[in-house]
Amino acid sequence: MQFSGKTALVTGASRGIGRAIAVALAKGGATVFCTSTKEGGCADTLAAVAALGAGSAHALVVDVASAPAVEALAKTVLERAGKLDFLVNNAGITRDGLFLRMDADDFDAVLATNLRGSFLVCKAFARAMAKARGGRIVNIGSVVGLTGNAGQANYAASKAGLIGLSKSLAQEFGGRGITVNTIAPGFIDTDMTAVLTAEVKDAMLKQIPLARFGTPEDIAQAVSFLCSDAGSYITGQTLVVDGGMTM
Ligand SMILES: NC(=O)c1ccc[n+]([C@@H]2O[C@H](COP(=O)([O-])OP(=O)(O)OC[C@H]3O[C@@H](n4cnc5c(N)ncnc54)[C@H](OP(=O)(O)O)[C@@H]3O)[C@@H](O)[C@H]2O)c1
Repeated sequence: MQFSGKTALVTGASRGIGRAIAVALAKGGATVFCTSTKEGGCADTLAAVAALGAGSAHALVVDVASAPAVEALAKTVLERAGKLDFLVNNAGITRDGLFLRMDADDFDAVLATNLRGSFLVCKAFARAMAKARGGRIVNIGSVVGLTGNAGQANYAASKAGLIGLSKSLAQEFGGRGITVNTIAPGFIDTDMTAVLTAEVKDAMLKQIPLARFGTPEDIAQAVSFLCSDAGSYITGQTLVVDGGMTM
């Protein structure tokens, strides 16, 4: 993929899927702004990009659930780069629990990061992207936003909401040349899924026709495709990348 001259923002790029996305876009030559909630959180991602000898990466600290922090993030990115071509809303959390034991705080926290956070970041950059009359927004959802999942009512609701947000923005900003899509990963091997028991993982693996868990790079390839020229006529879609788990 050729991304030289392009500027990208990847939220939650300190590890896992976000890091792989940042590395993939930088590999194509993009300048990538990587965020974490922690100072120094993106150090390994920056090192991985430096090792590529292509593109460049810059670390920024932001809690996407905080409107003032997101506004400050947009100001910094737009001042430093002058534009944003690719916006990847990847930051996400889980707070799993069966519904009868899930309290409102667990619901609010997951919605605040996964859905409100994506809304805030889109809002902070939409005007500049619209003015530039082009850009790609890729929101990282989940297959559970399509299927639901016992023990993840909050997370599934946040990811289903993200699909509605993406489709609405796709309609509002299509005329400005901005595409907005959701990628719905299945089971991807990251810190987020490392906490699951061996029994749960074995059961999930049996449901995957391609007989392996996904890698962060599997998702990064899909993001690269949607950001590339090859993805220019795709908008408002939910691209499932799950090894066939939920077909
Ligand atoms: N792994 C899977 O199987 C899977 C499947 C479907 C969808 N997804 C989605 O893919 C995305 C990435 O998942 P992952 O597995 O790579 O997760 P991960 O390894 O837990 O990484 C999560 C990332 O999100 C950041 N983050 C968390 N809360 C944040 C906040 N309030 N503001 C800004 N950044 C925040 C973290 O940054 P810090 O450095 O601050 O911790 C970290 O970089 C998530 O949206 C997740 O829901 C994952």
